[in-house]
Amino acid sequence: MKKITTLDEFIIKSQKSYNDATGQLTRLLRDIGIASKIINREVNMAGLVNILGVHGDENASGDKVQKLDIFANERMIDCLQNSGECAAIVSEENKEIIILDKVKGKDPQYVLVMDPLDGSSNIDVNVSVGTIFGIYKRKSNVSQDPGKEDFLQKGADLVASGYVLYGTSTILVYTTGNGVNGFTLDPSLGEFCLSHPDIKMPDRGNYYSVNQGYYLKFDVEIRRFIDQCNDDNLRLRYIGSMVSDLHRILFQGGIFLYPNTRKYPHGKLRLLYECNPMAMIIEQAGGIAITCKLDRVLELDVHDIHQRSTIALGSAAMVDDMKAFVARYSSPSTSF
Ligand code: AHG
Ligand code: MN
Ligand code: MN
Repeated sequence: MKKITTLDEFIIKSQKSYNDATGQLTRLLRDIGIASKIINREVNMAGLVNILGVHGDENASGDKVQKLDIFANERMIDCLQNSGECAAIVSEENKEIIILDKVKGKDPQYVLVMDPLDGSSNIDVNVSVGTIFGIYKRKSNVSQDPGKEDFLQKGADLVASGYVLYGTSTILVYTTGNGVNGFTLDPSLGEFCLSHPDIKMPDRGNYYSVNQGYYLKFDVEIRRFIDQCNDDNLRLRYIGSMVSDLHRILFQGGIFLYPNTRKYPHGKLRLLYECNPMAMIIEQAGGIAITCKLDRVLELDVHDIHQRSTIALGSAAMVDDMKAFVARYSSPSTSF
């Protein structure tokens, strides 16, 4: 029988290759794994316990909040509060930074950014959703309260990032800047087990993923690029959950786009807890992540914790094609 490597074993083994590691990051990643299992259980039970449906509140970004968004947000915060390995959290569901109480004897060096439930409009119809997270080393002194400066860091400064996809099976994919690994939840063991070691994405693929319903609202260079994807007979796949859409592209190759529209002139997706963590994963797997203005996502300045950005990411050769279209068709007056 082949030896199974659990997420916990893998994280601890990886820590051992860093002489100066304190173990805090290891424990924080382990806590995220635990919270994901709790969220997974609830996502799977959603139809049974009448937790489905719009909760009625609006989140910090003005979107309708559904019950599972709140559940996922609270479980992740609870898990990290209890363990004391994280100093503060920025979540899609909270307007302000959440400062966690200190747990006795611990001086947490890390802060977390997260989209606790991504693709929440899919919940009511049993379609895949996900969790996105990113970890930064804090800038502020550990003896002081954490603050905005801990979060207003470029994506390139992320220490780790990852996502969990609650799909036909549940998979956790993460990187600490040294390659990307995927762990599938074995429900009978209750453990994430290494299933996709050292993920490298194809240089090209057959898929493009964009909300084509907004075609007429995109700038001309993006429309031309989408036309080219059509002409090349690429297959359009769009679930409406960035995690699910990008998961396909990570494994099978392709490009995912969320450009600016009239409604979202700076793009819809959030830089801190959607674009940057996913950009880090894609780059670590050999892909490229840029804005529709062709800037590297991970190099963007972060001035607001809920800042939005346009994004185009996926297989390197396909993002390069998109760059060429944007360079050729954009006029100086075109915004973003
Ligand atoms: P969330 O559910 O966290 O608000 O995120 C939804 C996001 C993203 O996952 C997805 O790619 C996009 O919104 C879909 O937006 P459109 O419905 O505008 O295509
Ligand atoms: Mn999201
Ligand atoms: Mn969300």
